Amino acid sequence: MAALLRLSGVCKSYGALKVTDGIDLSVTEGETLGILGPNGAGKTSLFNLISGDVSLDAGRIEYDGQEVSRLAPHQRCRAGIGRSYQVPQPFGAMSVFENLVTAACFGGKQPEHEAWDTAYEVLVQTGLLAQANKPAGSLRLLDRKRLELARALATRPRLLLLDEIAGGLTEHEARELVEELKAIKARGVTMIWIEHVVHALLALADRLFVINFGTRLAEGAPQAVMNDPEVRRVYMGMEA
Ligand SMILES: Nc1ncnc2c1ncn2[C@@H]1O[C@H](COP(=O)(O)OP(=O)(O)OP(=O)(O)O)[C@@H](O)[C@H]1O
Ligand SMILES: [Mg+2]
Repeated sequence: MAALLRLSGVCKSYGALKVTDGIDLSVTEGETLGILGPNGAGKTSLFNLISGDVSLDAGRIEYDGQEVSRLAPHQRCRAGIGRSYQVPQPFGAMSVFENLVTAACFGGKQPEHEAWDTAYEVLVQTGLLAQANKPAGSLRLLDRKRLELARALATRPRLLLLDEIAGGLTEHEARELVEELKAIKARGVTMIWIEHVVHALLALADRLFVINFGTRLAEGAPQAVMNDPEVRRVYMGMEA
């Protein structure tokens, strides 16, 4: 099947620090790719390059058969690349509903009447309906995480990039989140999910990609990757 997203030789450095060092990666339509790696490995940096928040030094990013490496973040979002941020980024003084309408209008390029419908749909889908009129800045952690997912969904993504949305949740909350993500996956949305909560990731991922020092350490079927001695040593601190 054709790749929806393809990265070839993607590089990014900050001074002498290579945070992304020649990454090749592709994701097919409908697939869920899980990304693992130790703290500081370059996972979020990779999302920043895909979403266009940060420009790459070298390499190429193709989405839906077109090169998007030089497009601005809002153009990539409107093309169908939606993302959540590891540190939630809502407009704190605006209500939850207004945050979603804004995402639908500006990120999803939907006309206002359609954006209102989308915002309502997403509120229901993510369990945020009761919080709709609260200022986004007043939400507790679980709901802030939900809003981060909801804002990405309101743009109607074809490719959804999720950065540690299960971090800090209780077991029960993480299970709820996995169920929500399964429903999104069932609708055909392609996902890349960076997550340290491995059991949540394994419940959804079709394939895993492990990053260390900005390079690929391992890639493949989830169980094979989790059993890889090098992955166990680097990521889980276990002896090979
Ligand atoms: N704008 C920047 N300027 C300088 N260094 C940066 C910048 N952004 C990221 N880095 C560095 O790049 C490295 C990779 O950071 P990144 O946020 O991608 O890691 P990560 O794999 O997402 O880690 P975590 O699991 O902790 O979220 C880190 O050493 C980080 O300090
Ligand atoms: Mg990160």
